[in-house]
Amino acid sequence: MKLKLHVWRQNGPNDKGRLETFDAPDVSPDQSFLEMLDDINLVLAKAGKDVIAFDHDCREGICGMCSQVINGVPHGGQERTTVCQLHMRQFKDGDEVFIEPWKARAFPVIKDLVVDRGGLEKIMQAGGYTSCHTGGVADGNALPIGNPVAEYSMDAAECIGCGACVASCPNSSAMLFTGAKVAQLAVLPQGKVEAHTRVMAMTEAATEHGFGNCTNHYECQASCPKGLDVKFIGKLNREFMKALCK
Ligand code: SF4
Ligand code: FES
Repeated sequence: MKLKLHVWRQNGPNDKGRLETFDAPDVSPDQSFLEMLDDINLVLAKAGKDVIAFDHDCREGICGMCSQVINGVPHGGQERTTVCQLHMRQFKDGDEVFIEPWKARAFPVIKDLVVDRGGLEKIMQAGGYTSCHTGGVADGNALPIGNPVAEYSMDAAECIGCGACVASCPNSSAMLFTGAKVAQLAVLPQGKVEAHTRVMAMTEAATEHGFGNCTNHYECQASCPKGLDVKFIGKLNREFMKALCK
C-alpha cells in the first residue's frame, strides 16, 4: 500500500522543528511500524540524505524505548501496543500518517523523534530500589508473600518506563510511572522498610525534573501500552500522605 508520512524533523532542543513529508510507496501490511521507517531510512541513506532519528531497542514491547506520537496519540492508539509492536495492517492504502516525538517539557528533543527521557531515570535513582545486604541467596520460603500482594506488585512492575503517560498528559505528569514504581515496592515486605523516604524522594525528583501533577484526565491509563491502572496514582497519593503524617 501507499502512504504519505509527515515526520517531525528537529536538529536538537533549540531547533524550532518542522514536519517533513515522505512518500512510502510500497508498505507491506505485515511490516511493523519501525520496519516501515527502516525502509524510508534506507532510501534516505542511499540518497546521501539525513536519516530519520528514532529510538528503539528490543522491538518486542519490552524496553520502552520506542517513543513516537502517531496521528496525535502516543504509541499510535492500539490498545496495549508499543510503536514497535504496531503493524502496518492497522493502516489503509492512501492514509496520511503524522509521526512526532513525545512532546513534554520534561522530555527535550535530542533529534527528530528521539527525546531525552532521563527525567524518568532521575525519579528511579531517587528511590526506585530496595537497600539490602548482599550475601547468599535467601531461602525462597523465608518470607512468604500472599498471592494477591504478589499479583498487585507484578501488575505495577509491568511498567516499561516508556513515558507515554507523560506525553499524553496535559500536565506532563509522571504520576502513573512514579505510582507504579512506588506501589510495586510499597506492598512488599522488602520495600516497606524505606517506603516513607522512597515516596518523598521520588515525588520530589519528579517535580525537580519538570513533571507536573495529575488532575484526573486518565489519558495516561488510556495510552499506557502495558495497561497500567490509575489506581497506582491513588496508591502513590496514599503512600505520600502516610509519609507526611508519620
Ligand atoms: S506507566 Fe505505562 S505509559 Fe507510563 S512509563 Fe510505565 S509503561 Fe509507559
Ligand atoms: S523497541 Fe522496545 S518496547 Fe518498543
